[in-house]
Amino acid sequence: MSAVVVVHGGAWAIPDDLAKASVDGVKAAACEGFSVLKKGGSALDAVEAAVKVMEDNTVFNSGHGAALNSDGEVELDAIIMDGRTLASGAVSSVKNIANPVSLARAVMEKTAHSMLTSRGANLFAESIGMATVPTDALVTEYERSEWTKHKTYAAGVMEDFNSQWAHDTVGAVAVDCAGNVACATSTGGIRNKMVGRVGDSPIIGCGGYADNSSGAVSCTGHGESILKVTLARLILSRVEQGKTVAEASQMSLRYMSDRVCGAGGAIVVSPSRQWAATFTTERMAWAAVDQDVLWYGLNPKERFKEQVSQ
Ligand code: GLY
Repeated sequence: MSAVVVVHGGAWAIPDDLAKASVDGVKAAACEGFSVLKKGGSALDAVEAAVKVMEDNTVFNSGHGAALNSDGEVELDAIIMDGRTLASGAVSSVKNIANPVSLARAVMEKTAHSMLTSRGANLFAESIGMATVPTDALVTEYERSEWTKHKTYAAGVMEDFNSQWAHDTVGAVAVDCAGNVACATSTGGIRNKMVGRVGDSPIIGCGGYADNSSGAVSCTGHGESILKVTLARLILSRVEQGKTVAEASQMSLRYMSDRVCGAGGAIVVSPSRQWAATFTTERMAWAAVDQDVLWYGLNPKERFKEQVSQ
């Protein structure tokens, strides 16, 4: 059976000057995830690899280039989940870690817990010898200047994610050759968020979920809205009720919009290799590799394709 990987670089009103870099970034991440799958790697390996590429790319709000909190500091959240066992690992409010998705995976694989936060997550990183970086090394000039401009930003409504104030999250989902699914999501959260604010991204069933019996989801968008509707799990419930992954994503995002005025996006893959990339914001950079074809888009209803370069 063939493998599929889908990635997103965040659902928001991506300005034209970031459009090309965002699309190039998700294409590179999807190709990295696919190359892991092609070499026989697991879905879990593929989503971690794809998300790391985006955490290292300053165009995205995660890892290097993450949004800053009200103190002007980076606080990162991430989750990873294995659809084979329902094991998950997450970190929230971590600093000094360039790839929080890998720390989340270590929480899953090396502790008896599902989530570590703040200082505890950093202490754990130290205990396993994970390299730290100076906090300021993750701060880009672009983010510092946006943060300065939007210090009075009031987080909370749909318009935020349809404005150019938001800057949201990366994620990946994959199904491997054995039919196992996995998801990973990583973010700096909402710009100018309160210190200690945790959004949807590291919360199981909200920012992501993976279950071999239905599929894997990674979400992006307004965290407080996603939390209210447990978006990732909601999408998979609808898949379990017989909807296609595209129908389930569209219905669930529409429900979030109608019920709590929240905007966002989701990527989904099923064990039978259906996949979808859906959003209710103005734009979301996404890419997928399915049978050596690279699909990608940015604007609603856009779906370009090209052959994966070998
Ligand atoms: N969706 C990311 C956040 O709200 O933190």
